[in-house]
Amino acid sequence: MQVVVLAAGQGKRMRSVLPKVLQPLAGKPMLAHVLDTARALGSEKICVVYGHGGETVREALDAPDLAWALQSPQLGTGHAVQQAVPHLDDGHLALVLYGDVPLIGEATLQRLVSAAREDAMALLTVELDDPTGYGRIVRDGAGKVQRIVEHKDASDAERAITEVNTGILVAPVLRLREWLGRLKNDNAQEEYYLTDIIGMAVADGVSVVAEQPDHVAETLGVNNKAQLAELERMHQRMLADQLLEAGVTLIDPARIDIRGTLECGRDVQIDVNCVFEGQVALGDGVQIGANCVIRNANIASGTRIAPFSHVEDTVMGEGCVIGPYARTRPGTRLGNEVHLGNFVEVKNSTIAKGSKANHLAYVGDADIGERVNVGAGTITCNYDGANKFRTIIEDDVFIGSDTQLVAPVRVGKGATLGAGTTLTKDAPAGELTVSRAKQLTITGWKRPVKQPK
Ligand code: UD1
Ligand code: CA
Repeated sequence: MQVVVLAAGQGKRMRSVLPKVLQPLAGKPMLAHVLDTARALGSEKICVVYGHGGETVREALDAPDLAWALQSPQLGTGHAVQQAVPHLDDGHLALVLYGDVPLIGEATLQRLVSAAREDAMALLTVELDDPTGYGRIVRDGAGKVQRIVEHKDASDAERAITEVNTGILVAPVLRLREWLGRLKNDNAQEEYYLTDIIGMAVADGVSVVAEQPDHVAETLGVNNKAQLAELERMHQRMLADQLLEAGVTLIDPARIDIRGTLECGRDVQIDVNCVFEGQVALGDGVQIGANCVIRNANIASGTRIAPFSHVEDTVMGEGCVIGPYARTRPGTRLGNEVHLGNFVEVKNSTIAKGSKANHLAYVGDADIGERVNVGAGTITCNYDGANKFRTIIEDDVFIGSDTQLVAPVRVGKGATLGAGTTLTKDAPAGELTVSRAKQLTITGWKRPVKQPK
């Protein structure tokens, strides 16, 4: 099977500099959803028809398995498919998809493709309460599909038909090539209609089978931001339902956003307004508090993340206690039972089992051993304005509050750093190191007072 994706439309009604088919749904361009679905079907070839000014589309999504056909000017859907036909091979079936119909599902398409053969084409249709604007499916007395009539060309009787064309169809390439060559634009819109091939197929003795989608949402197109937002919610609801089905507790399935893939173990609980981006895996019993943003993370079983935490490119061990208001940045590797409290930022660092940084700390480019206590206000000074340096903190270290570790620097096993220390040289194992001005009291000192004017 070979696929043609129509993506030449400008999408003026999006009122955006970003071409319509690049507008993201669930964090991914609409066209990328369609291409991924086409790939999942095992297509041998995918040809994208793009339009004038569509170079950004090509640049954004080009891949070795794609062929690109420019359609300029745009003279209708039939003319669009015609531009792709030179890339297709006879003896195959061609599936026509649309870059602005992003939710089309694999199961529906599998069914549609199975219904088509060298002597039968398949058409995806839906029943709509209000079919205004759509092409209508005209059937004969025996219920056989005869042709499609566009709304603007339809008679009143034809406009009463509620079965409409979704535009998605499968036809044998050899026939398609021939039918498209015979298209005329003598219609209300002076366009070359792809839909006219249905009548030609019937006239040539090729039967036309109509199939319906699993969900109507699969066939909805996007022309403006309101429709995009509607499809986003429908898609998110479907993803939420899959999680619920798999046993995940979602406090409110209407308030979760998944922009990528989210894998969950048993008894995972997710509170409201969480956003998951990229590849996220949550182990058994993981709990995510409200308003967390989690991107590309692997979080092992039993870890709890309190509200308003931000986690990115991070691996967390089992039984960690994170947040509220914690931030882990790319390259964070936490062992088991690590605690990160409020306003703690970790970047490109490993923190081993049982270590804690519970309040207001910056841990950057550091390797922290086991059972280390990082006091409130601790900062690794990892950057001299040009270069980054590492801080090594060995097992069982205790770092007093408000300590700066000026990297590169090492704190030996079991060392203690006194509160307020600015550490510029390595601290020996097992000893107390402190850098602090000696405390002194000036007796009898008087605070200045304002003089009356
Ligand atoms: C088309 C169908 C109609 C169907 C409806 C479903 C035709 C003639 N009509 O109508 O039966 O009910 O879709 O939404 O096919 N495109 C190009 N190049 C062109 C014209 C269109 O790439 O020259 C692309 C558009 O970007 C869009 C898709 O084809 O993704 C459909 O085009 P549109 O103009 O929206 O077709 P409709 O008139 O809605
Ligand atoms: Ca349309």
